[in-house]
Amino acid sequence: MYQTPSLGRSDDSAVDSSSVPGTPSDMSMFAQAYSIPADSMDMGALPERVGTPQPSRHHIALPDILHPETASSVPIRTICCIGAGYVGGPTAAVIALHNPHIRVVVVDRDQRRIDAWKSRHLPIHEPGLEDVVRIARDGAAETRRRGDSPTRHTMDAARQPNLFFSTACIETIEVADMCLISVNTPTKTRGVGAGRATDMAALEGACRDIAMHAKAGCILVEKSTVPCKTGQLIKDIMEAHRPGVVFPVLSNPEFLSEGTAIRDLMQPDRVVIGCESTISGHRAAAALANLYAAWVPRSRIAPIGIWSSELCKLAANAMLAQRISSINSISAICERTDADVGEIAKSIGLDPRIGPQFLKAGLGFGGSCFRKDIASLTYLAESLGLPEVAAYWQQVLTMNDFQRDRFAGHVIATLNNSLRGKKVAILGYAFKKNTGDARESPALDVIRILLEEGPKSITIYDPLCSEADIKRELSVLERDYAVSMPDGPVEVVPDPYAACGNSNAVLILTDWDMFKNGKPVTQSSKPVTIAETYDGATPTDVLHLTPRIERVTINKPPTPPRTPKLSPLAPELNTRLLPEPPCPADCVVCRSSSSAGMSVETDTTTPIDWAHISKTVREPRWVFDGRGVLDARAMVGMGFRLETLGRASMY
Ligand code: UDX
Ligand code: UDX
Repeated sequence: MYQTPSLGRSDDSAVDSSSVPGTPSDMSMFAQAYSIPADSMDMGALPERVGTPQPSRHHIALPDILHPETASSVPIRTICCIGAGYVGGPTAAVIALHNPHIRVVVVDRDQRRIDAWKSRHLPIHEPGLEDVVRIARDGAAETRRRGDSPTRHTMDAARQPNLFFSTACIETIEVADMCLISVNTPTKTRGVGAGRATDMAALEGACRDIAMHAKAGCILVEKSTVPCKTGQLIKDIMEAHRPGVVFPVLSNPEFLSEGTAIRDLMQPDRVVIGCESTISGHRAAAALANLYAAWVPRSRIAPIGIWSSELCKLAANAMLAQRISSINSISAICERTDADVGEIAKSIGLDPRIGPQFLKAGLGFGGSCFRKDIASLTYLAESLGLPEVAAYWQQVLTMNDFQRDRFAGHVIATLNNSLRGKKVAILGYAFKKNTGDARESPALDVIRILLEEGPKSITIYDPLCSEADIKRELSVLERDYAVSMPDGPVEVVPDPYAACGNSNAVLILTDWDMFKNGKPVTQSSKPVTIAETYDGATPTDVLHLTPRIERVTINKPPTPPRTPKLSPLAPELNTRLLPEPPCPADCVVCRSSSSAGMSVETDTTTPIDWAHISKTVREPRWVFDGRGVLDARAMVGMGFRLETLGRASMY
């Protein structure tokens, strides 16, 4: 039975709250908005610098979060990850992969999702995810590995499964030493703060379950993106149900992007761990840091204050989204001046102070984070009595909407202000390439505007988003009229040629490589695999020899990160993978090849044949490139009329 006397109540009293400075008046406004008692906020004892454990202002020496010895006082044997979504699933899988001695159980109330995680068809598409899940969930066979000389071999022991998926939430929480909270935190749709404030219902529910069933001392880790000060809310829930019991709360925001989740998890730029300046807080942070240290150099683990950690996720996403809105604002100017936004992005991106990332103009950002997180930031600012700050960030969202409206409006204007009797083909539905996630796509807004004009048909093709997911997203438009066929005009088709044939206009709404007509796809867009590792460690090291990775990352001085190398799964690993559980006879995924949103092999890089499409679309062959993926001269050479966001018309 896991017990840590050090996690008792007494050590938390190391910080004397009676001498903590009073709460600033603006904080109380925020506290009111989020129902957090202002006087309970421990504002006075926060660490001041990233990466350096700080003594509290009360001169109590706190344990070093980055020292492995600190972690040894809080042994972690079982982790419960609540929420088997885009964040919870991949994160738990990678933690389990690198910590074979720890049992990681991912729980979700959605039985179908759990069944999918246990099957051959994972519920989400992420390059490399399947390999990671297969090793951690199914185990690996013993194998012989070539040693330093041709005559020396080493044996890699068989690996037991240590990643499990279950709907038994309570039972799993009861035995967990650490709970990763990865439930969804969407924007509120009604009530106070609707449209901007974060809906905390799922997180509150998960916390209540933990409060009622977890062992004393269980470490709670916020993985979901949450408003700043949520840690206090969690502590209040725990205190209400289990008064006097210490449950350390950590913030460990996830910075993974969809489509590169496994690479982002395998090679994170940084791992931020936010904790309170208490002994139990530091020990808990050390335990979490130790899990990551199995594959992440400790130099990249950044322990900071819990409130900074919560806010830094919102700040990071807001900064990234702001760059996109900034370049998109320039794209509108370009279209009226014949300047080229691509050339501008390239030239300003060469300035190292600006850099080239996130300067791609287009339809604007989608995805489940940017809009939601900026909305949450504006609500936070307003709640803190900072309307100017709220207005500043709101403008990033306004610019994003403007870009979609402008694009759709331009399509309609170009087609003589009417879509009656016309067919519009849409290539790409996902909010970005390499994901089958159909949620929060700019395509939805574009389709909404087009539908107002009563088109004869809108035909959508996306290589990874499933028909069912796209239709579910479109169903929010059903209020006023029928949208999907047979009653409505929208149809989802399984190949791009069927989508484009006989259409009056082709719209590119996702930057899939297959829609490009320029140079062949570069290597960087090939699927990523678990063969990518840090600092020269081989795939076999990563998968099976955790102690060796510990040596590489802890005892050796940190070496600079290598440029990510994309290589296929090492051949010897294929021999170690155990057979996957067979599908039931009535498996719908196996039966239906059109359910491409699942983990079915789909070619997303072989370019489509634009020359063929040019023969099947209607004159004057309009193509509207909302993602800047097409080479204009080549398209015009094939007889298309091309309109690209941020560039002069080409025909
Ligand atoms: C994540 C984070 O949670 C969110 O804060 C971040 O901003 C974006 O990414 P994501 O993983 O994409 O969300 O969410 P989702 O795919 O919806 O997965 C959440 C899972 O939690 C769902 O499978 C849902 O069934 C599960 N859940 C939710 C529970 O198991 N119990 C609950 O009480 C609520
Ligand atoms: C984002 C953050 O990148 C990640 O760190 C965080 O954890 C979650 O939110 P994600 O939403 O998965 O990740 O995708 P991202 O690659 O950031 O793209 C978001 C949107 O911005 C997409 O719609 C994309 O097409 C758009 N985008 C991105 C641009 O329009 N231009 C760019 O230059 C970059």
